[in-house]
Amino acid sequence: MVAKYQLNTSIGFASAPVTLRHMTEEDLPLLHDWLDRPHIVEWWGGWRPSMEEVRTHYLPRVMATERVTPYIGMLGDTPFAYAQSYVALGSGDGWWENETDPGVRGIDQSIGDAHLLGKGLGTKLVRALVDMLFRDPSVTKVQTDPAPTNLRAIRCYEKAGFRIVEKIVTPDGPAAYMIQYRSAW
Ligand SMILES: CC(C)(COP(=O)(O)OP(=O)(O)OC[C@H]1O[C@@H](n2cnc3c(N)ncnc32)[C@H](O)[C@@H]1OP(=O)(O)O)[C@@H](O)C(=O)NCCC(=O)NCCS
Repeated sequence: MVAKYQLNTSIGFASAPVTLRHMTEEDLPLLHDWLDRPHIVEWWGGWRPSMEEVRTHYLPRVMATERVTPYIGMLGDTPFAYAQSYVALGSGDGWWENETDPGVRGIDQSIGDAHLLGKGLGTKLVRALVDMLFRDPSVTKVQTDPAPTNLRAIRCYEKAGFRIVEKIVTPDGPAAYMIQYRSAW
């Protein structure tokens, strides 16, 4: 099963375009495979969801009711990353309780194949996602909240235009609260 989703890393990833498409139900086995990989488990909730749990949490029509939009990052024609955006206001379950601005969007992302980490692809992916979100004129600000110890993610987000505003505590634990305003885009 895993071999089926092994990305051919000999492709010319430096020149292949990085784009995003909406995730569909058909992508859930791929997402399940990625969420089982150690480099993602370390920074994405610390658990290995079963296929059933992936369906429960990541089915796009279920995520839509929580105002979360899932995407697949594409390297040329090949899926290589998972990303999601969300409306911060009204997230519930203790998330972003002080937020009053309906224009704030949040983002999270992970690259599926460990061989592709640290090659600049995350920066391209985050830039593409932020570009897409700011094309909606009602979006005022984009935020992200990596663990303060996830220095690779923090550096990636800085390169993509985010700045750390403060250290916060989220329902998932301590986080570096990073934002990018429309004016800086
Ligand atoms: C976070 C993630 C999306 C970033 O994508 P990426 O393609 O690896 O990032 P980039 O290559 O664009 O940028 C990484 C930067 O961090 C730097 N870096 C790597 N490890 C580092 C470390 N331990 N300390 C400081 N900087 C580090 C790299 O040198 C690079 O900076 P540079 O270009 O100035 O040299 C990707 O690493 C990933 O999916 N990680 C696993 C899951 C995860 O952490 N998800 C994010 C949850 S918030």
